[in-house]
Amino acid sequence: MRLILLLLPILLLSDTNTDDSFLLEIEYGKMLYNNPRGIACSKCHGKEGKGGQVISKYYDKNSNPKLLKGIDITHYSFEQLKLSLENKFRDEKNHRVRHKIMPIYYLTDQEIKAIHTYLKSVRDK
Ligand code: HEC
Repeated sequence: MRLILLLLPILLLSDTNTDDSFLLEIEYGKMLYNNPRGIACSKCHGKEGKGGQVISKYYDKNSNPKLLKGIDITHYSFEQLKLSLENKFRDEKNHRVRHKIMPIYYLTDQEIKAIHTYLKSVRDK
């Protein structure tokens, strides 16, 4: 009985502490961002989704060396992120943008939400 009385405040606290679960979701999203059952987003979009990562080197039609770099993905909405991962992303004119490089991912809504929360936390940092 005494043990239950001691544990009760902890149980109550852990239930109401939303800050905590928010932080957990950021951690979960960070883990998925780096290991999303496929190629890590970070390989192309940089360590924290802010882009700049070199994806490949190529030569333009004048034989000048060029670098293809990943874009910043920290400002996309959950819906945009979901469409993007399914290769159904639409631009601001509602035109479908087919991926040339980015693979399709098979992630659940919960997983995409966690990645979204993580990317938002990085953006707002
Ligand atoms: C192999 C490199 C690569 C990987 C890995 C990758 N991306 Fe991308 N991503 C791109 C490129 C390149 C684009 C631009 C579209 C294109 O040409 O494929 C892009 C575009 C995007 C966009 C902009 C919307 C769109 O679809 O055009 C979002 C959002 C995005 N990526 C999120 C992610 C997330 C989240 C992951 C991990 C689950 C990821 N990407 C993994 C290369 C990559």
